[in-house]
Amino acid sequence: MRGVGQSPTVLKKEREGDFFMSKYVAEPFRIKMVEPIKMTTGEERLMKIKEADFNLFNLASEDVYIDLLTDSGTGAMSQEQWSAMFLGDEAYAGGRSYRKLIEAGRDVFNYDYIQPVHQGRAGEKILMPLLLKEGKFAVSNMHFDTTRAHVILAGGRPIDNVVPEGKLPNVRSKFKGNMDVERLEELIEEKGDKIGVIIQTITNNSAGGQPVSMKNMAEVYNIAKKYNIPLCIDAARFAENAFFIKRDEEGYRNTSIRDIVKEMFSYGDMFTMSAKKDFNVNMGGMLAIKDDKANSDLVQNIKASCINFEGFYTYGGLSGRELEAMSVGIYQGMEDSYLTYRIGQMEYLAARLDAAGVVYQSPVGGHGVYIDAKAMFPHIPYYEFPAQVLAIELYKEAGIRSCDIGSYMIGNDPDTNEQIESEFEFTRLAVPRQVYTQAHFDVMADALIAIKERASTIERGYKITWQPPILRHFQAKLDKI
Ligand code: F0G
Repeated sequence: MRGVGQSPTVLKKEREGDFFMSKYVAEPFRIKMVEPIKMTTGEERLMKIKEADFNLFNLASEDVYIDLLTDSGTGAMSQEQWSAMFLGDEAYAGGRSYRKLIEAGRDVFNYDYIQPVHQGRAGEKILMPLLLKEGKFAVSNMHFDTTRAHVILAGGRPIDNVVPEGKLPNVRSKFKGNMDVERLEELIEEKGDKIGVIIQTITNNSAGGQPVSMKNMAEVYNIAKKYNIPLCIDAARFAENAFFIKRDEEGYRNTSIRDIVKEMFSYGDMFTMSAKKDFNVNMGGMLAIKDDKANSDLVQNIKASCINFEGFYTYGGLSGRELEAMSVGIYQGMEDSYLTYRIGQMEYLAARLDAAGVVYQSPVGGHGVYIDAKAMFPHIPYYEFPAQVLAIELYKEAGIRSCDIGSYMIGNDPDTNEQIESEFEFTRLAVPRQVYTQAHFDVMADALIAIKERASTIERGYKITWQPPILRHFQAKLDKI
């Protein structure tokens, strides 16, 4: 029987230290509704990717067999979420669904002011211009690409400051998403009051979904207090981060995820959140301020901006139905059995890659597996986008859609317009929640192994033939060199 955890390649695989053994964790749910997907032929895929100008964002989703472009808004909701949606109050102002979400948000995060927004970047769009202007800097353990864009659009400049091991895919250490605390103090000494905000991204998406430790969150918060700089948590994957703290940080094994979450959020002044990840909803976000009284100007400005850009502040660009699904997802996303299964899927794929010598950001993070494309294609330089090469090959090989988190994504320097060399070239396989099964994970592993075997025959990368000025990777056109 090839059931739960029976994959021969991983059964015996034990991780170093106290990292966990990886067998497939059985789903803590059964499936009630299915969506057909179809496999195309290799020939069809060659044609489709060419028509898409070698940009996977341009593919029609029906032409994708396993869609790992993002874990954002792509999950399968629970029966409780679907049924809650029927209770949505679609009132323009003062809706019941709004009050329910605010109550749940306060209960979980303990923040005074909570502003629903339609997704994470809407919160960034509202908040960044209130904290930054020309000449100011944002320092983050790593900015997600939309966060980086909103810092720049507000006139500021983003500085990424992850711990050194966060950039070394082969170094298997815990909490590789942490902020480099020493460097942070140096940056503050250097730049003085030019630092407008410190951003802790949990988990650290751009570094591979790597978690941030509670210790690091507390240290960074204390530094922010010492220098009186606002600390914003970019909280998209807060529940996955809490799971890693519970599993891997000393002193938390017997603390509940709920209590860990509450402590994590105590180390921030405000947060922006894409609820499309750990609330497991298709659409939604939050922007929150811990202390409404001390920051009432800030809250007034948030409300004003929200009304202009998102909608009245009691719905923030969301329907009452969507607010209801968030109010349920906020709790379900923190359940132990769910998180054990969720992180277990990543561990399973990672273990199969270990067995085949495919290098990835290790230990594996919370929402996906980040393949080290530099290791796969050492002969392809950053300006030919090795991580994009691998993403294209994965599509050609098995109809899998992934994306580049490397030089292609990072783009050009906003001041010099030169291509920036990213510190790593990852191809991200981001896993939607409660969507794919163990057999799909085997397809992913088999495809990566097949590509590794023929990697040296892929000699060159891609050049950009057209690009927009900001967030180019979503729309750019590429061609083979
Ligand atoms: N911050 C982080 C850490 C994110 O990962 C994302 C989105 C955002 C902010 C923006 O949120 O999409 O709701 O507007 N990440 C998705 C991804 C898109 O694929 O990693 P959004």
